[in-house]
Formats: sequence, C-alpha cells, structure tokens
Amino acid sequence: MKDKTEKAKERHIPAPSVESIRDLILEAKKKAYAETDHEPEPELTSAVEWPITCTVGPGLEGAIACESKVGYVNGSKGWLIYRGYDIFDLCAYSTFEETSYLLLHGRLPSQAELTEFTTSLRERMFIPQTQRLMLSFPVETMNPMSALRLGTNLMRQKQTYRDTDTEADLKVGEILATDDDSIPMETRPPGKKNPVFEFLTGLFKRVHPASEDALVGSDEIESCYNLIAGVASVAATIGRTRAGRIPLEPLPEYGLAGNYLYMVTGRRPTALEERIMDISLILHADHGMNASTFASMVVASTLSDIYLAIGAGISALSGPLHGGANVEVVKMLAEIGDPSNVKKWFRETTAAKKKVMGFGHRVYKAYDPRARILGPISALLTENDETRRKTYATAVALEDAVVSELGAKKIFPNVDFYSGIVYSAMGIPQELYTTIFAVSRVAGWCARVVEYLENNRIFRPRAMYTGTFDETYVPPSER
Ligand code: ACO
Repeated sequence: MKDKTEKAKERHIPAPSVESIRDLILEAKKKAYAETDHEPEPELTSAVEWPITCTVGPGLEGAIACESKVGYVNGSKGWLIYRGYDIFDLCAYSTFEETSYLLLHGRLPSQAELTEFTTSLRERMFIPQTQRLMLSFPVETMNPMSALRLGTNLMRQKQTYRDTDTEADLKVGEILATDDDSIPMETRPPGKKNPVFEFLTGLFKRVHPASEDALVGSDEIESCYNLIAGVASVAATIGRTRAGRIPLEPLPEYGLAGNYLYMVTGRRPTALEERIMDISLILHADHGMNASTFASMVVASTLSDIYLAIGAGISALSGPLHGGANVEVVKMLAEIGDPSNVKKWFRETTAAKKKVMGFGHRVYKAYDPRARILGPISALLTENDETRRKTYATAVALEDAVVSELGAKKIFPNVDFYSGIVYSAMGIPQELYTTIFAVSRVAGWCARVVEYLENNRIFRPRAMYTGTFDETYVPPSER
C-alpha cells in the first residue's frame, strides 16, 4: 500500500505558469463568446437627450442618472467592458495599474506613462504616517471595513490641508470669525477660489492641466493616485494589525497587487500569486452604477472632497448586500463539507426557501464573466492541497446542482462564488475579503467621480410623501 507522502507526490501537479493563466482566460473568453451574441444594443449605449423618460423601480432601479464612458455591464449578455475593452482581454493582458490608468484617464497609457504611473503608485503605497496613526486606534478589534474608512480619513488628514491650518496660514483678512475665541480652524483654508477641493498644490508633479475654475484639476487626480495606492496599504495594514504584527512598507520589486499580498501576509508572493491577485483586482475595478459607486458620486456631487467621497464608497460596500457575499460562500462550502453532501444540502436549502450564496445577480441574467475567469483560476490554485481541492470540488458540485435546478430562472454563479476560494488559497484571512474589493473598486470610484464632476449636478431624487397631514401637536406630558 502506498503511504500518504507517496500519494501526495503522485498528486503534485507543477504550479501553473503565468502564461497558462492567460490561456485559461482566453479559453473562458472563447466559451463566453460562443454562448452569447456580440451585437451592440444602441438603446442601452446611446447619448441621452435630457430630460428623459424611463421606468424606475424602488431604490432608483432602472433610473438613468448620468452618461458615462467609464464602463458598461450588459447583464443579459454577460458583458463587462471598461472604456471599450473587454474584461477578458484586460485580465489576459493588462495589469491593475494599467487598468486603473485606463479607467481614470480614458485611454491606455504609453509604455513610459505606464512605467511612471506604476512607480508612482508604488511610491504612494508608502504611507508611514497614516499607518502609524492607524496604530493609535483599536484597529485589531474594529470591523475591517470600518477601519478602512478610518484609514482614508487619516490619509486625507495627512495628504490635504483641509483640516490642518497652521499659524502660517493665519491671515487677518481671511479670518471668518473675529471674536477673541477665533482659532485657526476658523480661518479660510488657502488654495483655490473654490474652498472645497484643496490639496497640497505643488507637492506632486502635475499630471494633467486644468483651468482655474475646473472642479477636477491635477490636484484631484493626484489625490485619486494617492487613494488607489493608499487604500491598498491601509487594507494591508488592517490585516497586519489584526494579526498582531506591525505594518510593512512596499517592496520595489512588486506592483500594487504583489505589494498588497506581501504587506498583508508578510510573505513574498510568487509570480503566479501576484498575477492572480492582479487579475482579481482588474475584475473588481468597476461595475456600473452599483451602490458604492453611486454613494461616492453622491458625496462628490455636493463638492465635498474625493477622500470623503471614496470613504462613502467604502461605507456602502461594507454592507452584506454589496461586498461580503464571498465570505458567506466560503463559510457555506465549509458547512457543506464534501461534494457528496451537496445534493442533500441543496434540497434542504431550497425547501427552506433560502438563497444559495454566490448565485444570482441583480444585473447578470447570464453567466457572470468574472466568475468565468475566477472559476478555472480557483481550480488551478487548489489543485495541490487536499482540503482546498475538496472545497473546490464541493463548489463545482454545487454549481452543477444550482444551475441544473435554477438555470432556467437565469441563476448562475456570480463573482463572489469563486473569489473567496481564490483569496483563501493565497492565505488571506476571510475577514479581509471585502477590503480587497475596496482595494480594487477605488479605481472605478475615482474614475466615475472625476468623470461626473466634469459636468457636476448635485444628486437630488425625490421621495413620494405618503404620510399624514393635519396632525395636531400634543405636548409630551399629555401624550
Ligand atoms: N439562490 C436561490 N435562488 C435564487 C438566488 C440564489 N442565490 N438568487 C435569486 N434566486 C431566485 C429568487 O428566489 C427568485 O425566485 P422567484 O422568482 O421564484 O421568487 C428569483 O431567483 C429572482 O431573484 P431575486 O431575488 O428577485 O433577484 P435579484 O436580482 O433581486 O437579487 C441577488 C439578486 C440579491 C444577488 C440574489 O441573487 C441573492 O441574494 N444572491 C445571493 C447573495 C449573493 O451571492 N450576493 C452577491 C451578489 S454579487 C455582488 O454583489 C458583487
């Protein structure tokens, strides 16, 4: 009889190469293209003549709030497109840095621009003051998304002069209150005429000229760069702090994805792990007018500032209806335990009218292209570990059961079904999964906020009042 070690050796499959991941993505693309047509739908993608008439459901479902060139989701065909580029091609050929540049600037960078941008993001991941400030809060016991929200506020404190008026800024003519109690906080911050978007002008090299009065100038774009780099560092700091370890600084040899992995696990990632994290970040970077993107845009539309706008995105993402379903998937697969238990578990779950985590989507009524990519990647990542292999096999058996029963209702796996398996195989603790979503989505939030501010109009929908009239006020003592 063969012992366990021999069996394991036989089983060991050489780690796949980075190139094989590309082949796998292109294979998934071929399958997706074979299963859907590629005819554009002009009624969903044409310029809007305002005002427009559209059918709106509760929660603004179906409402068109603005035009955008940032990204497009066609749920009935299973398309996801950033700035005209198919998600399959971006995952096969691009990096998170390049995709972020594309989303933010509307075009792919030249080689020189990409090198400069990648270097710049790496440098901006080094935020020791913010990391140190975070250690003075009980981050290890905070909800990670709440800690991430705090981190963006601390970045704002360090990277803007919004709240940091100093003696030097005190100019008599600019003091807003003139009584003896006036303190520096009551002075008008220096900077642009518009007192809202003021960042450390001149600290960074200008990336894009803007007119005096434009709401989005180079300082704001610089702040987007700070946020794309900084959210990754803060998210990693949260992971480290929760593990009782001190935060790390980024290493020069890695890009954002590799550095995130290194800074959270303390272990230098392999080229394959770095590439898979890069792909995961590309996949989550933008997704139409989802709740967190909308939240960021609403805050920005008041001419608050971009740090606070991104903080609002993080807050919205923290809810279980938005980010976080992938954690539930991993727990659910652990509960099922083995592929042989799937049928019984699924029968009981449907009988109890419970939803299966990681399936269905408000927008996708076809197979989610992100799940098409993460599914095969999770197969590769789990191949060499018995426990993980069983988890993956359980996931596949569950997908078969759900799709054969509910496929007619257009219920397929969504991005969250396989992403948790991927993160867990890379050694990332479950409680950090939603923060990874933010590490990626910050690129989409920034791109859409910046685009919206070019033609800003404060968001102001209505609620239909269905309350009473003519109530007579009764004092508390008489109620
Ligand atoms: N398991 C079983 N049945 C489902 C599921 C599911 N996961 N999702 C939808 N259905 C069924 C519903 O019961 C409903 O059936 P009925 O018509 O017989 O009543 C039908 O499909 C339509 O479902 P709705 O809830 O109306 O679909 P909706 O578009 O409103 O909801 C949602 C989408 C919230 C994502 C839902 O599918 C769900 O709760 N899924 C599980 C949680 C999850 O995976 N969330 C992550 C989404 S991806 C993301 O946010 C990144």
